[in-house]
Amino acid sequence: MPAIKFYDHEPIPVEMHKVKIVQQLHLLPADQRLVKMKEAGFNTFQLHNGDIFMDMLTDSGVNAMSDHMLAGMMTPDDAYAGSESFFRMRDKLEEIFGMKYCLPAHQGRACENILATRFVKPGSCVIMNYHFTTAKAHITRLGGHVEELVKDEGLVSQSDLPFKGDIDLDKLEACIEKEGADNVAFMRLEAGTNLIGGQPVSVQSFKDACAIARKHGILSVLDASLLQDNLYFIKIRDEERKDMSVREITREIADQFDMIYFSARKFGFARGGAILVRDEDLFHSMEDLVPMFEGFLTYGGMSVREIEAMTVGFDESMDMDVISHGPQFIKYCVDKLADYGVPMITPAGGLGAHVDASTFVSHIPQQEYPAGALVCAFYLCGGIRGMERGTLSEERNADGSERFASMELVRLALPRRVFTLSQVEYVIDRVKWVYDHRDMIGGLRFVHEPATLRFFTGKLEATSDWPEKLVAAYKADFGEDQ
Ligand code: F0G
Repeated sequence: MPAIKFYDHEPIPVEMHKVKIVQQLHLLPADQRLVKMKEAGFNTFQLHNGDIFMDMLTDSGVNAMSDHMLAGMMTPDDAYAGSESFFRMRDKLEEIFGMKYCLPAHQGRACENILATRFVKPGSCVIMNYHFTTAKAHITRLGGHVEELVKDEGLVSQSDLPFKGDIDLDKLEACIEKEGADNVAFMRLEAGTNLIGGQPVSVQSFKDACAIARKHGILSVLDASLLQDNLYFIKIRDEERKDMSVREITREIADQFDMIYFSARKFGFARGGAILVRDEDLFHSMEDLVPMFEGFLTYGGMSVREIEAMTVGFDESMDMDVISHGPQFIKYCVDKLADYGVPMITPAGGLGAHVDASTFVSHIPQQEYPAGALVCAFYLCGGIRGMERGTLSEERNADGSERFASMELVRLALPRRVFTLSQVEYVIDRVKWVYDHRDMIGGLRFVHEPATLRFFTGKLEATSDWPEKLVAAYKADFGEDQ
């Protein structure tokens, strides 16, 4: 998106697309939202979409498709084996990333399952700049452990560091020394680092980290699920690369890695995933896992329609007009809230606006899930569904004690090309209201706690009648019907 200039005020983000198909939204009154929240066990994953006004849970599988993507879905080649749709996708990925071999899988975590199954043994270490929930769960399930080596500054909430997702190279060398290179299953670097606020990684960091891995004979894997946001930030923040095309930057990054995987629910704006492999023998060593877990090697659990749509989506991910929409809207939202005094993760990252719950509701102790409580308050006070990205999203330690997250975040995701600026203004307004009433928010406790990935299916309750009181205050300001 070029920065469109305005005659009588500072630029605001302008959509570089127009709306062709819409989905009607409904705003339930606050009293009904309170009922729905209780039924959902104070877990926003358990809400029904029809009861939500602004669904900002995720940017995964809910991005708007383009007319060209939809057109692609009309001409797929349906076949169990040898589908031409798959070959079109594989060729497009080779054109973009320069990797010849492609293992399709139905979504990102399926790729993570395949990689972990192939490389992780009990006691193995997987090095990461930062973990993603499912990536880590597959590794620990197999008896491995994860070492997160993001630079310390990456975990500082408010900052002006342009690339907060960079791995710390000294920590990387020290970790390899401690673990022994043979015990490191692989190094996984995540573009657009999700759990620290969608923060990008610099090209230099990718290069330096991969060089160290190569020197020690350690396989390097790029999680490219959020690469499109990362590419946008490189383009605008990296002086050395401002004249390079998005495709050239993509290739420079890809060339560092042995393998790349992604969730096409994000990268490609459709629903699917794949692992790309440079080396033929490595590819064959994982090949059998695709028919076992996913489906035949030319569909990998995906619909051929989605394969056609994402093939177009990959091209669109290389277009600055397309990939700048999300980050610009997010920056607009983050800057306005930060100006009001709301503690936000800065600089604004990709995939969503991230609220620093540990400061926002600093009176709620970490064992009562401050980010979990705040995300519920946003639903109660506006019908906005965000996602908890804090201690609730962690697994407990082996001895059953809580593993406190290093950051307590509420993510308000901005699925790509979905929302308009007036909807973002609505969200800003309601977050400000909640901020001004933050002392009314209390904690949560589990009533049903699953052993793994508890944030998906767990049920909680409020530790007091704070939800009722908060809703009463909200109605006093906005009326019964909002
Ligand atoms: N890697 C990253 C960086 C992700 O953000 C995700 C998913 C995955 C892998 C797994 O991909 O969902 O297709 O299985 N992130 C979603 C989110 C779930 O809401 O942030 P998946």
